[in-house]
Amino acid sequence: MKQTERLLIHLRRWRSNPLAFIREVLNVEPTDQQTDIILNFIQYRFIAVRSGNKVGKTAVCAWLLIWFMCCFKNARVPCTSPSESQLKKGIWNEVGIWYRNLPEYFKNQFTYTAESLTNTRHGTAWQSYIKTATKERPEVLSGAHSADIFVIMDEGSAIDGEIINNILPLLGSINAYSMIIGNPMRTSGYFFDLFHGKPSIFKKLLHYSAEDSPLMPQETLKAWLEAFGGRDSSYYKIHALGEFPASDSDQLISLYIIDEAKNRRLNKDEYEDADVIWGVDVGLDHDASTLVKRQGRKVYDIKKWRKVKDTVKLCGLIQEEYNKELKKYEEDEEHKDEEDYVKTHKLPKRINIDEIGIGRGTVDVLKGWKLPVFGVNVGWAPKEKGRFANLKAELWFMAKEWLELEAPQIPDDQDLITDLVVPKYQTNPSGKIKIESKDQIRKRIGRSTDTGDGFVLTLYRPKQVKVYI
Ligand SMILES: Nc1ncnc2c1ncn2[C@@H]1O[C@H](COP(=O)(O)OP(=O)(O)O)[C@@H](O)[C@H]1O
Ligand SMILES: [Mg+2]
Repeated sequence: MKQTERLLIHLRRWRSNPLAFIREVLNVEPTDQQTDIILNFIQYRFIAVRSGNKVGKTAVCAWLLIWFMCCFKNARVPCTSPSESQLKKGIWNEVGIWYRNLPEYFKNQFTYTAESLTNTRHGTAWQSYIKTATKERPEVLSGAHSADIFVIMDEGSAIDGEIINNILPLLGSINAYSMIIGNPMRTSGYFFDLFHGKPSIFKKLLHYSAEDSPLMPQETLKAWLEAFGGRDSSYYKIHALGEFPASDSDQLISLYIIDEAKNRRLNKDEYEDADVIWGVDVGLDHDASTLVKRQGRKVYDIKKWRKVKDTVKLCGLIQEEYNKELKKYEEDEEHKDEEDYVKTHKLPKRINIDEIGIGRGTVDVLKGWKLPVFGVNVGWAPKEKGRFANLKAELWFMAKEWLELEAPQIPDDQDLITDLVVPKYQTNPSGKIKIESKDQIRKRIGRSTDTGDGFVLTLYRPKQVKVYI
């Protein structure tokens, strides 16, 4: 019997049994957790899944998407999430991988592009596609009516309730399915409420830990436990255990804010008019020395030097970085004296260096070498004296506000990300905000936040104009 005939005989069975389709057509063996998701999906049709990373939930969505598209005529499968880059890197990438794995018979029926999977003969009437859903465009999926519909929502924790409520009317037909999946990032919103007893269309709530997933390397979990200070840390809860972080946490910066900044892609015109500022945190013995480069809303480069035991040597490394940018600038005769051109060539207007202790020497040497350095002592009085105990607390709060309010972009740098979530804050007896000290942090997690410290230094402005209202 030819393969095509064999496939057609099985099609009826696959329609009611996606697990068999996944095994026999996609040729992959789901993990126990994935099998559980699939069985619940068949039984309940509307399911919500929260889990740690690498449970394989995005892959399951991609398999089920392909199953639905192959088994039901004029099927429609909209996929959404709040971020386009996540959609493309996540679900749509997986769909591409498994689409290419399909037997010719099924593959030939569809065309896969960067944004859709379309039946070649029926066109948009038989299609799966990705669309971002944001508060500004809550209606993205409306008009997607079909009797055979399956709506997939990835990164569910960040999808606005209004958007989900707009999608629900699409799901009134008999052959309707929906899955909302995600890491439990946020402690409010639709996804959070759903998992805390609020009635919804999602009839089955599922939860899986990455600790039980064979797709998750044990070394990764071990490294997270060390970097974030144990199983109770928000990071470990969200990314490994699939638990919501404690909402009464004294952690300064929420992880989802950092995640959003990491996934954001700014256009050039959104930062190129801003000054370039560098921040340097000096650590000569155990700690690393870090150099963080920021232009307006974008942190775009981070240098880390470990075990540089000598001040002058460290100064040499910083100067080398500076000279690299200077050289590009000088080689460009045409625009030599234009201030804007300093910016496009990414020459720092100022290099803020933590001058406490060993940093002092670095500032002096680099001043002597005529670099635009500025020594910052984070023990100085803050500008808002009534609110903060010292400049350090003020700078870290500026970092929090910058991340929350400026819609910035930061690189996917594990050190920066871990450092930003680590510091806790307290209010001292006189009501002023204090940030956990280097010593306390070292005691708690066994290292210091060098990259984070370099970053917050980029936010320091020597002569800040204070507006009193
Ligand atoms: N059953 C499986 N067998 C082999 N590889 C798998 C399986 N399930 C998922 N994968 C792969 O493992 C990786 C992590 O899966 P993913 O779906 O992204 O996890 P999650 O969305 O839970 O973080 C992906 O590269 C995916 O292709
Ligand atoms: Mg995923």
